[in-house]
Amino acid sequence: MKFLITAGPTREPIDPVRYVSNRSSGKMGCAIAQAALDARHEVVLISGPVDVDLPRGARLVNANTADEMFDAVHANARDCDVCVMCAAVTDYKPEKPAAQKLKKGTEALLLKLVPTRDILRSLGSMQDRQFLLVGFAAETENIEKNALTKLRGKNCDIIVANDANLAMDSDENEVTILFRDGETQKISRAAKKIVARQLIKIFANAREKCLTKKT
Ligand code: CTP
Repeated sequence: MKFLITAGPTREPIDPVRYVSNRSSGKMGCAIAQAALDARHEVVLISGPVDVDLPRGARLVNANTADEMFDAVHANARDCDVCVMCAAVTDYKPEKPAAQKLKKGTEALLLKLVPTRDILRSLGSMQDRQFLLVGFAAETENIEKNALTKLRGKNCDIIVANDANLAMDSDENEVTILFRDGETQKISRAAKKIVARQLIKIFANAREKCLTKKT
């Protein structure tokens, strides 16, 4: 199967030297990409700026900003079997990044942020979508309830819910997988590499099931 996987944060420029971003390390996305390669799948990895070793054998596309990631995902999604949106895409970006470095002053600095485009939602709303669509939900409270809202709202097949406090920048994770038909499955706390292996099996099975239903 061919997997498209996004990983890491995005950085939204304020000026040439500053940006708005988040604490995502890219470890979970890269572990999923590695697990897919280990299971002999083909992988396109679309990665934000990360400081981890990227898996060898994947086709790597770098995407710094949410807009770059949006374009890279849409350029590659159609011929994939499974799209896993693991990246922590920055939700807001400065409306007008400054062309030159902002000079400091003594007054408060007001930064106007505007929403970035939601990549997962845009894939979920594709009319003729053939691939299995997997989203992630990073939550700090009401994890399953919020994840279910994302599953329905963004029209995914699967949402992987995790506690952002535990998952961000950590080598371990613990996830609850919510399926479109209401089924849920848990993977208890383990190294991200281990969790990733189980996730790849679950995604590949779900994709197989979709194909069998269609034929
Ligand atoms: N996502 C995306 N594009 C965005 C924001 C999020 O594709 N601009 C995707 C993420 O890759 C993830 C899912 O949406 O698969 C959920 O991301 P998350 O950060 O948990 O939630 P948000 O939708 O951003 O909502 P909130 O921050 O309010 O929880």
